[in-house]
Amino acid sequence: MQTVHTIAELRAQVVAWKRAGERVAFVPTMGNLHRGHIHLVERARELAPRTVASIFVNPMQFGPSEDFAAYPRTLEADSRQLEAAGLDLLFAPSVAEMYPRPLENMTQVTVPELPAVLCGANRPGHFTGVTTVVSKLFNMVQSDVAVFGEKDWQQLVIIRRMAADLDLPVEIIGVATVREPDGLALSSRNGYLSDEQRAIAPTLHATLQATAERWRAGNRDWARLEADAKANLTACGFRPDYVEIRRADDLQRPAPEDVAGLRIFAAAWLGRARLIDNLPI
Ligand code: PAJ
Repeated sequence: MQTVHTIAELRAQVVAWKRAGERVAFVPTMGNLHRGHIHLVERARELAPRTVASIFVNPMQFGPSEDFAAYPRTLEADSRQLEAAGLDLLFAPSVAEMYPRPLENMTQVTVPELPAVLCGANRPGHFTGVTTVVSKLFNMVQSDVAVFGEKDWQQLVIIRRMAADLDLPVEIIGVATVREPDGLALSSRNGYLSDEQRAIAPTLHATLQATAERWRAGNRDWARLEADAKANLTACGFRPDYVEIRRADDLQRPAPEDVAGLRIFAAAWLGRARLIDNLPI
């Protein structure tokens, strides 16, 4: 595996592969890798003979009171995992390489509407930070496909919309959430949990499952289902941001005739970790 830190080195390698007629698959990350990220790399390897991953903790997608400074940076351990997974090229740029001017003076890419709900409602500017950095990375890597996790479903929907609206020549592939045996979705932020909180954390997934089950059993009062789920999370020690049933493809509220293509989404604080999860209904 080759590791590069500059856009010029990245481009030189990808151009060489493309000249040789080889397809390229790309997995963007913020590092502190776990089995969920590695699963994306494995999927990428099935999709193309050449694979690129990026590790960049993107300051533009963190709010002023969020965990940008505390976000774990573990490049050495991450590199070992990526190498073992068979990755060809790791791109690990500095902030100055990605943003040569102050963040507020950089061009931004904003998808309308979709960022206003769910996580975006509580994290103003977050998805503009994501779509800006992902479009920059897409322009740098020029991959044929890019792989994203369904754990961040709203992010996946927003990136698909961005790629469609801007006619980006990259296919977006979603990969199912990788979980611990007790149901907890793997996340870099799980490391913030104490032992006691870690024991409570799978309740988030269990609550979504139980709520989806009630819907499937015919209870269509979604406002009631969401309120019950939030109350359950609060009783278990979470501070829920939201529990919401929405359409999977456009994140709109279900119309009465919408019975298929729905998902249930949640975000909840447990100590200083903000956990998110979502399931198909
Ligand atoms: P990060 O949180 O590092 O996640 C990188 C990718 O891994 C995302 O596509 C995310 O959905 C996926 N992922 C995380 N946990 C997963 C799990 N348990 N199972 C499957 N996939 C999982 O998402 C970001 O970084 C950033 O916003 C980024 C897209 C890199 C832009 O900065």
